[in-house]
Amino acid sequence: MSAPTSYDVAAIRNLFPILNRKVKGKNLVYFDNAATTQKPIQVIDALVHYYTHYNANIHRGLHTLADEATAAYEAARVAVQHFISARQHEEIIFTKGTTEGINLVAKSWGAAFLNEGDEIIISSLEHHANIVPWQMIAEEKGAVLKVIPMDQNGILDMIAYKNLLSNKTKFVSIVHVSNALGIINPVEEIIELAHQHNALVLIDGAQSSVHLDIDVQKMDCDFYVFSGHKIYGPTGVGVLYGKRALLEKMPPFLGGGEMIKEVTFEKTTYNELPFKFEAGTPNIADVIVMKPAIEFINTFGKANIRAHEEHLLKYATEKLRAIEGLRIIGDVENKVSVISFIIDGVHPQDLAILLDNQGIAVRTGHHCAQPLMQCLGIVGTTRVSFAAYNTIEEVDVLIQALQKSLNMLR
Ligand SMILES: Cc1ncc(COP(=O)(O)O)c(C=O)c1O
Repeated sequence: MSAPTSYDVAAIRNLFPILNRKVKGKNLVYFDNAATTQKPIQVIDALVHYYTHYNANIHRGLHTLADEATAAYEAARVAVQHFISARQHEEIIFTKGTTEGINLVAKSWGAAFLNEGDEIIISSLEHHANIVPWQMIAEEKGAVLKVIPMDQNGILDMIAYKNLLSNKTKFVSIVHVSNALGIINPVEEIIELAHQHNALVLIDGAQSSVHLDIDVQKMDCDFYVFSGHKIYGPTGVGVLYGKRALLEKMPPFLGGGEMIKEVTFEKTTYNELPFKFEAGTPNIADVIVMKPAIEFINTFGKANIRAHEEHLLKYATEKLRAIEGLRIIGDVENKVSVISFIIDGVHPQDLAILLDNQGIAVRTGHHCAQPLMQCLGIVGTTRVSFAAYNTIEEVDVLIQALQKSLNMLR
């Protein structure tokens, strides 16, 4: 794929003040976007504007500041609804992040509907956030956790998946895009097969929400979770989408203010959706700035950003493949702009330190996916991940820096 001609990466870079900083005396090259993206100026400004002009608690005040903060908070909910094409804004629950979204579903749905001997299916590619909460509820309920195997390229074994499904399967929780390898899983097929067995499906969208067009209705997932900080938004905010009928049936996750209709010492009745799942004062400022983050993506267009990132991915993949002893893990067609690799005789951590000395931020280690690394028989990888503001020149800087580092390490 050639570079999109109308894509003005310089204009995009100008929106990210952090890209002007130096690291160890060198221009910052930020290739750790799968861990968290940098923030555009409109997100930073909106945060400052909130605290400067209309900081107030929401939903219960009868004064101007509270009205303004409530309106902005609810406008962010509608922006998120459109971002993932949910049917109703009541189906959007604000959480702390992907991790909390998965825990909410595992704990709330699991407590109410899981029974001894029921089965939950996850995959070999999961982030710890989509393993541990299911292990915890499975242990509590006497349920069984099953894992879809994969091949050495990170491709899920769909035949094995079909064989795992049975009338005991109650829930399937799958990552849409692997954070460690960038591979896109066939979630539509996974969902359809699960539904044939009346099992519910949660999609971990932490990595897909920023790169892929998400239409939760078309996908037909029952739950979809993601984090604000990976879509050019703030830390401390995430989203749980759930089909309304399911959320209605689930008990609250946390109890407290805001999630109630009426409280007496004898009994409490719960608030309507989405408030039933948003106990206490939420992270108002950061929820509000989810809207400018989404607007940033929409202004440049997800498809245009993706085409740019795919150009970087292709270019970098070819350059990396040419390095002696370097092996890309998950070197497949159907992936997002993430490249994970190992190099013969080189420890990823040594490499990361040498790259940091040259101003380049990459991630190394198991990427919170230790079972995946065990399946691959490795301890970790070096991961390079691209975002809207990265450039071909930065890839060239990386390749040169890699070669320099390898000369020192080998
Ligand atoms: C695939 C995946 N799932 C879950 C998470 C957890 O996200 P958070 O730490 O924002 O809750 C991440 C974060 O890296 C991720 O990449």
